[in-house]
Amino acid sequence: MERFAEKIVMVTGAGRGQGRAHALRFAGEGAHLVLCDLPAARGDAELDPPATVPYELSKPEDLEETARQVQALGRRAVAMGADVRSLEQMSAVVAEAERALGPIDVLVANAGICTSNPLPTMSVQVWQETIDINLTGVFNACRAVIPGMIERGHGGRVVAIASMAGRAGWENIGHYAASKWGVIGLVKSLALEVAPHGITANVICPSSVNTTMMHNDSSYRLFRPDLENPTREDVLPAFASVNVIPVPYVEPEDISDGVLFLASQEAAGITGATLSISAGVNALNI
Ligand SMILES: NC(=O)c1ccc[n+]([C@@H]2O[C@H](COP(=O)([O-])OP(=O)(O)OC[C@H]3O[C@@H](n4cnc5c(N)ncnc54)[C@H](O)[C@@H]3O)[C@@H](O)[C@H]2O)c1
Repeated sequence: MERFAEKIVMVTGAGRGQGRAHALRFAGEGAHLVLCDLPAARGDAELDPPATVPYELSKPEDLEETARQVQALGRRAVAMGADVRSLEQMSAVVAEAERALGPIDVLVANAGICTSNPLPTMSVQVWQETIDINLTGVFNACRAVIPGMIERGHGGRVVAIASMAGRAGWENIGHYAASKWGVIGLVKSLALEVAPHGITANVICPSSVNTTMMHNDSSYRLFRPDLENPTREDVLPAFASVNVIPVPYVEPEDISDGVLFLASQEAAGITGATLSISAGVNALNI
């Protein structure tokens, strides 16, 4: 079944991980894709590359690889380096993609970073970069796409990726939790404003997902502060201990299942909702 035949779907942070999984699942169901992720670092860049993230973010070749895999499924892809912190860059992606592919039907605001620091001693730069990317980045993507959806009058779908960190307080990632609570407040408010235009806006809250954001030294040390150099084997039981279903993490494709559902016709009656795909962590809090 092709639920998204000839639909145009935009995914931010599409270079790898969940963003790539969502793009490929949409392509598998007939959609053409607008893909963006961080631009190549340039000396004259309007924005400095994110400086506070202790693991490597996507490179331009990662985004090209996602586009190649979409095209291998027989769909069209427009891939552009663009930083979600810049409304100008988001607007340029939308303008270029809509010229090449047509109007965007679905926005998946997925790009994000996760760093760890205790709040009492956190630098303003660590705080600001997380808020700028995880929260303002979602605003910028919505701000770039939604006016066109409203003007065309054919409705549309927005799905933003928050986190279970946006459903409770979490030690050492307070800035990340604040950014994800912010995403939920933003999307619920947006849902109210765009409902008369036939546009829905919903949020998915994953817990740990099997991507680079979890598999890096900084995250490993957060989960195993008792070890100097924890390995993947060391952290898996610690990852699993947070979950209700006894798995260390969910897979990116588990999140894609929720994204495609919320973007589909079956979810026409759902807006302003948060869907937890979290191995049951939601059973412990909101
Ligand atoms: N992995 C997890 O455990 C987990 C859990 C809950 C929520 N999330 C959220 O899921 C989303 C996807 O993360 P992931 O797990 O695929 O991690 P990831 O690090 O593999 O992917 C994130 C992508 O976002 C891109 N990105 C970062 N900053 C950007 C910017 N300024 N502009 C454009 N692109 C940028 C990165 O280059 C990368 O390709 C994020 O919003 C994240 O916060 C992840």
